[in-house]
Amino acid sequence: MATNKIAIYPGSFDPVTYGHIDIIERAARLFDKLIVLVSINPVKPASFPLEERIDFLKRSLKHAKADNIEIDNNKGLFIDYFKRRKADVIVKGLRAMSDFEYEFQMALLNKDMCHTAETVFLSANAASMFLSSSAVRQIAMFGGDISAFVPHCIAGDIIEKLKKGVLP
Ligand code: PNS
Repeated sequence: MATNKIAIYPGSFDPVTYGHIDIIERAARLFDKLIVLVSINPVKPASFPLEERIDFLKRSLKHAKADNIEIDNNKGLFIDYFKRRKADVIVKGLRAMSDFEYEFQMALLNKDMCHTAETVFLSANAASMFLSSSAVRQIAMFGGDISAFVPHCIAGDIIEKLKKGVLP
């Protein structure tokens, strides 16, 4: 049986939340290497530039309980990156059933384009079931408290940046 399984967890991470961090820590325990891939979602224009999303992730994962995590970014087609890195598994987090259809479609399309690409879905933990980056952005925009949803080390920067956009 093949060893040294490489998994990739792609996403917008706009910004990273405790829900993402939970998936990252659990996936890092399941595979030999986990690449957290900050990606472009063409149908969801990002609020934070790619570099800032990477920085948020790096700061958030500084004290992660794993030493097999790499953070990278990709501006092209995901499956090309997947093949280039000779990866085995795509990791996705699933919250409510509403995630399922979209994620299932992506899993099947990726498998069509690369027959060895297996997608593994990890269920969100109960606390993150209704947590999303877009909800965090909205709360921050209107000056709400996001400390329960994102690490302390990035919360201030998120609020600072988003508050400017809507508040007088
Ligand atoms: O966190 P998101 O926005 O749900 O993540 C979606 C993402 C970024 C993983 C997806 O849009 C993606 O893979 N983008 C890269 C371009 C690509 O390969 N698209 C085809 C996916 S089948």
